[in-house]
Amino acid sequence: MSTTTDATPSRNAVLDVEVPRGLKGVKVAETAIGNVRGQEGFFHYRQYDATELAKKRSLEDIWHLMHEGRLPDAAESAAYRERAGKLRVEAWKQVHQIVPGLMAGAELSEVDVMATLRALIAAVGAREAWKPWLDLSPEEIKDQCSRAVALTAVGVAAIYRTKHGHAMVEPDPSLPHATDYLRMVTGETPTPEKASALEKYLDLTVDHGFNASTFTARVVASTGADVSSAVVAAIGSLSGPLHGGAPSRALAMVDEIGSKENAEPFIRGIFERGERLMGFGHPVYTTMDPRSIMLGEIADGIGGDQVELARHVEQTCLDLLEELKPGRGLKTNVEFYAALVMRSAGIPDELFTPTFAVSRVIGWTANIREQVENDNRIFRPSAEYVGAEPPQDVPVI
Ligand SMILES: CC(C)(COP(=O)(O)OP(=O)(O)OC[C@H]1O[C@@H](n2cnc3c(N)ncnc32)[C@H](O)[C@@H]1OP(=O)(O)O)[C@@H](O)C(=O)NCCC(=O)NCCS
Repeated sequence: MSTTTDATPSRNAVLDVEVPRGLKGVKVAETAIGNVRGQEGFFHYRQYDATELAKKRSLEDIWHLMHEGRLPDAAESAAYRERAGKLRVEAWKQVHQIVPGLMAGAELSEVDVMATLRALIAAVGAREAWKPWLDLSPEEIKDQCSRAVALTAVGVAAIYRTKHGHAMVEPDPSLPHATDYLRMVTGETPTPEKASALEKYLDLTVDHGFNASTFTARVVASTGADVSSAVVAAIGSLSGPLHGGAPSRALAMVDEIGSKENAEPFIRGIFERGERLMGFGHPVYTTMDPRSIMLGEIADGIGGDQVELARHVEQTCLDLLEELKPGRGLKTNVEFYAALVMRSAGIPDELFTPTFAVSRVIGWTANIREQVENDNRIFRPSAEYVGAEPPQDVPVI
């Protein structure tokens, strides 16, 4: 007979545990994929500092690390890059058929790229009848996860170009994933500087602990549902302005401020209206977000008036947060410089959040695989009921 203690409740024990709102700080799973140490301003992919990886390795190498559990050697790295190219070519076969149909009859100027991306991944899952992962082998699950990564890059570019009346651009499997994504968006092979700036942004945003979209992907996967459902749900989660939907807003604020003199009165106005500064604050970091430090350096390398203004706006925001919200540990987050780096690399503003999805889908799918391969347990928390006292008589009419 098995015994349990308070520390190891039986599987069916009814627990009554109060946790912070939004599950802030609550450990809900074990993971070997990576983590964030908010107070130290440090995050890692598996056993490596993510910022060091971004400086030294390619996006495909990081993809390999996240999905295969270790960094590739030189031969494996070349093979993985080739594989990524083939996956994009495979994805294209679906994307160029499905995207025009999804957008036919829509008011193109109103089309939302993230919403259409959700529809695209859902359509591929539906057309190919992706089964609940419970009915699939680990190899089949891995294959679908890899395909979701390629579909996201090829899909975002195709949706954007169709929306703006441009012909969709076919993938070039000989190029690195990041470079090819940028080429499919703009229609031109980017300069090495632009490709490198974008690749570093993508490297830095592959994974970031149990953020909302990653958790969403794992919750859906925990039910046994198919991979496309988990990815579609994660895309929806990422689209929210409090998560991935903020980068264009952060840069829009800098654009609207327009000049150094206007920064302080403009930002004070935001506080007076009780609004939040986009690109500042983070649920985990109470110190500088290491991604914003590295992206700020990349932006400095690109230089120019816009970067100078952004630096000034950032400092003014930090000074006013210190003055008006002291002790909250509100610092610059990844979104602030992410937008600047993406725009400098040639990514249009409306693709800031979809481009975040292009990298984060690598993390989502690594998490989906970990969730399903390691003693999966369905997520099933409970809520405190605060409505009218039950049971009350049901009125008869
Ligand atoms: C990211 C975010 C949702 C994290 O929120 P959180 O850590 O849960 O913080 P809370 O919502 O509990 O806020 C704590 C306090 O800081 C303030 N605060 C948090 N972020 C703020 C911001 N960006 N601007 C101004 N004040 C902010 C809140 O008003 C609150 O103040 P109070 O103590 O006087 O009530 C939040 O900082 C935010 O909305 N930021 C802007 C959006 C953004 O950049 N998102 C991208 C995240 S990577």
